[in-house]
Amino acid sequence: MSGRLAVGPELRRGPAVTVTIDSRPVLAYAGESVAAVLIAEGSPATRVTRSGAPRGVFCGMGACFDCLVVVDGIPNTRACMTWVREGMVIAHQDVFVAAAAPPPKETHVA
Ligand code: FES
Repeated sequence: MSGRLAVGPELRRGPAVTVTIDSRPVLAYAGESVAAVLIAEGSPATRVTRSGAPRGVFCGMGACFDCLVVVDGIPNTRACMTWVREGMVIAHQDVFVAAAAPPPKETHVA
């Protein structure tokens, strides 16, 4: 786990957890956001746009949706608003994944 920022004695981290980033096991700490772990791991780009441009953490507070990743198979998850937990599976995301269309409305026929 190279590239980690040093944590001084005045800072306390949560318990260690193991998450998977793009099929690679990574040590993280409870209380960290997915975005923080990605940055600490040297992988700040969370997704790419349709044109192939990388995107990552921009606002860091859930407003811009630039930090989308796939978490436990769910696309369009904001990395900056999602806290890691043991066994979480994180993947970088290619383009924005449109939500499935809602089912057609039922019509009442009298
Ligand atoms: S960085 Fe803006 S929503 Fe996550």
